[in-house]
Amino acid sequence: MGFQDKKKILLAYFSGTGGTKRIVETFENQLLKNRHSVLSYPIEGSFASTMKTEQTRIVESIDLLILFFAVHAFNAPLPVKNWIKTLPHVNNIDASVISVSGGGESSFNKVSRGESIKALEKKGFRVFYETMMIMPSNWVIPTPDHIAIRLIRCLPKKAETITDDILSGKTKRTKTNPVARFIASGISHLEQKGTKKFGKGLRILDTCTQCLWCVKHCPMGNISFGDEGITFGEKCIICFRCIYGCPSSSIHATRANFMVLKQGYDPDQLEKRMDQVELLPLEVCAKGFLWKAVKSYLSD
Ligand SMILES: Cc1cc2nc3c(=O)[nH]c(=O)nc-3n(C[C@H](O)[C@H](O)[C@H](O)COP(=O)(O)O)c2cc1C
Repeated sequence: MGFQDKKKILLAYFSGTGGTKRIVETFENQLLKNRHSVLSYPIEGSFASTMKTEQTRIVESIDLLILFFAVHAFNAPLPVKNWIKTLPHVNNIDASVISVSGGGESSFNKVSRGESIKALEKKGFRVFYETMMIMPSNWVIPTPDHIAIRLIRCLPKKAETITDDILSGKTKRTKTNPVARFIASGISHLEQKGTKKFGKGLRILDTCTQCLWCVKHCPMGNISFGDEGITFGEKCIICFRCIYGCPSSSIHATRANFMVLKQGYDPDQLEKRMDQVELLPLEVCAKGFLWKAVKSYLSD
């Protein structure tokens, strides 16, 4: 099997803070260069039944689905799992799954695609290719600038290699370790239980200008504005879009605050900051176990 002819390709993605979205845009450019017909689709919020009918019509007409998502606690974020449930049953449509992490293809991160792949297969998709891409980390430990900028700059090359693989029909499936699967699944369950609490612990600071950016951009529609000002509901998935995206940096997490990067998260700013900087060799800036998988991805 191969994809030499013009194909109809759906790029469905969930991106909390824009890293995965940037990857999808790079894929879109690459696929359009090859004259394929491409539809990029952000997986956000809940689906009205009219949208579901439209979605079914689109999905049934495609030749290939490529699903991208940011890794959240070694798994796909909830909207991705929910979205797959809304898909129609199809007859062997080809699919690929690309997870996007800050840490790379470690044993635990490898597990991140398993549940989504199984769910897609149950719907009748033929998942023949899966891989991991890396963007700067948006939680707990920031990616050092000299590594982060390399991750951004290598995107076009990576997208070219991966689209070539996928379009030539290359099979790539990952074997995962059962112990890693067990531990990762436990952590993922804990994370999903904690998301509600995290969301309830979000506070608005006095610096808020009530621009309502957060209300408009929350992927879960979890932030409202009313008599009590801005309030947070029970549907938070800890994507950090509101915290990092708030134009006046006025959203503060009172629970599990260690996960939020103190300096914020803004790859566009990083690119500007690093524009004229001479990069340190990878051996110097990506030392140690923590960056092993990232170093191997960048050395590829
Ligand atoms: C709640 C949460 C959990 C995360 N879990 C992981 C993880 O298990 N492994 C990892 O390598 N990165 C993890 N990350 C980092 C993101 O996967 C990474 O920064 C990704 O590039 C974010 O993509 P986005 O900008 O499209 O949201 C996590 C981020 C968040 C917010």
